[in-house]
Amino acid sequence: QNERESLYIALSFANEYYQNLLWHHTDGKAIGHSYFKERGFTDQIIKEFELGYSLDIWDGLMKEALDKGFKQEVLEKAGLIIAKEDKRYDRFRGRVIFPIHNITGKPIAFGARTLVSDKKQPKYINSPETEIYHKSKVLYGIHQAKQAIRQADNCFLVEGYTDVISMHMAGVKNVVASSGTSLTDEQIKLINRYTRNITVLFDGDAAGIRASIRGVDMILETGMNVKVVVFPDGEDPDSYARKSGSAQFQEYLQKESQDFIRFKISGYAKEGVGDPVKKAETIRNIVESISKIPDAIQRAVYIQESSKLLDIDESILIAEQNKILIKKH
Ligand code: CTP
Ligand code: MN
Ligand code: MN
Ligand code: MN
Ligand code: MN
Repeated sequence: QNERESLYIALSFANEYYQNLLWHHTDGKAIGHSYFKERGFTDQIIKEFELGYSLDIWDGLMKEALDKGFKQEVLEKAGLIIAKEDKRYDRFRGRVIFPIHNITGKPIAFGARTLVSDKKQPKYINSPETEIYHKSKVLYGIHQAKQAIRQADNCFLVEGYTDVISMHMAGVKNVVASSGTSLTDEQIKLINRYTRNITVLFDGDAAGIRASIRGVDMILETGMNVKVVVFPDGEDPDSYARKSGSAQFQEYLQKESQDFIRFKISGYAKEGVGDPVKKAETIRNIVESISKIPDAIQRAVYIQESSKLLDIDESILIAEQNKILIKKH
């Protein structure tokens, strides 16, 4: 209890510290703030998401925090400082900072993006797991989104920090990110507190699509409704929102939202026309997904629809589905 509280206080202090640098320090202004400006972030959105900057020195945060009376041990347990043999140094250096908030709006972790585009260092460095940060239970942006999710009765799910922020700027506020990790049941349950409807936004590259499909199946198993939107190759929601502007982006979401079954079938249509082996594989794959849905009536509707779209006898699909369902029980 006491220890957790001290971690919250340390994270909160660091959050203020990084923001202060962004708005008032020479480097923070010239490097950090300029970076966000170049990405098209407004001052208002930078403030709303409490974005910050970490100086390119070894002990900027550590010095300041020790000065203010924080204990070295607490800073380490908060994930702010790295202890390696007899050395102690700041985890985040020379990077822009994206604080990650819990559902009540307290900062519990940070993601930090590099400003140089060499391949030598990772694009993002994130806080480690701590007593107050369990990344499998957290969704980036949930605090800023929860009201909008309830209102829209739908939650958009994206990959990254910048996708969430750019979508807010495009007027779409019911959005959260899994932050690069694969989706977990706990994250799905968190969304389920506010809505039963999730729309998964896929980065337009093969790896992004593959990773997202696993997430879709997990959502189906919980009995929630899931739609998907695919972005053009090479685009993510952030780049696409900036490119197209608010109205056009919203229209794209609306027009391109499709049912996951139709999405899977259209994938088949692109790849495997006329190839019976491929077709059989796709059909099995689609039936797999359908059999994850807990509700029998909903399953029946999807089977019927697949039968039509794939031009295959409904009884065959039902038989295949039953095989899968029996195996599960
Ligand atoms: N990510 C991470 N560590 C990395 C790369 C990615 O934690 N080395 C996470 C981040 O949360 C990131 C998300 O995965 O936001 C998606 O990754 P990616 O698409 O590569 O980054 P973008 O969010 O698109 O960032 P940017 O637009 O700045 O390139
Ligand atoms: Mn814990
Ligand atoms: Mn990606
Ligand atoms: Mn991306
Ligand atoms: Mn991006």
